Amino acid sequence: MIDATEIRELFADLLARISDERLRDQVVETWTLACREGGWEELEAVTQMPFTLLTDCGGVGFIEHTFAVAWGALGLAEAQERAYEKLPYEINYDRLIAGALLHDVGKLLEFEQDGRGGYGKSHHGRCTRHPISGTALAARTGVPVEVQNTIACHSKEGDNRPKVVETILIHQADFACFDPLTMKADGTLIGEE
Ligand SMILES: [Fe+2]
Repeated sequence: MIDATEIRELFADLLARISDERLRDQVVETWTLACREGGWEELEAVTQMPFTLLTDCGGVGFIEHTFAVAWGALGLAEAQERAYEKLPYEINYDRLIAGALLHDVGKLLEFEQDGRGGYGKSHHGRCTRHPISGTALAARTGVPVEVQNTIACHSKEGDNRPKVVETILIHQADFACFDPLTMKADGTLIGEE
């Protein structure tokens, strides 16, 4: 069973940057709950899991993707803070990091091991995609609704919907990871000659 200590260790550096202790605990609790309800016994299986089933991940795993999105969203936020004399909106870094760590947590319910060394979509995943299942998990641990917005609206479910600014940053960081892979797969990613 994957416990809270393992999750705390895995995301230690990013969790340390969340100043609200309660929110930090809620992120850990949501991940632990998702592992338990998704039937994930070993962290190794979660690490090996591809971050999407929609295209060839080229070896990029679910945990690697979570880090890339968190660091990417932080980079986008810091770029604006650095470049603008005055930021026209406030960026909440607690919300940004918590949201980035949780944006795909629903994939622990959406995906399952197929018993042949691979991964596939679960019955749960056919019923609700990860933005919906992730939001439901987060609501159960008391994650604030603004952080729920980052989970619910980070993907196409959020198209043309109201969003907190942190959702936009997470969305862009997420698609910066996703689009090159889908484009590589369909031949539209231009490589070196
Ligand atoms: Fe993602």
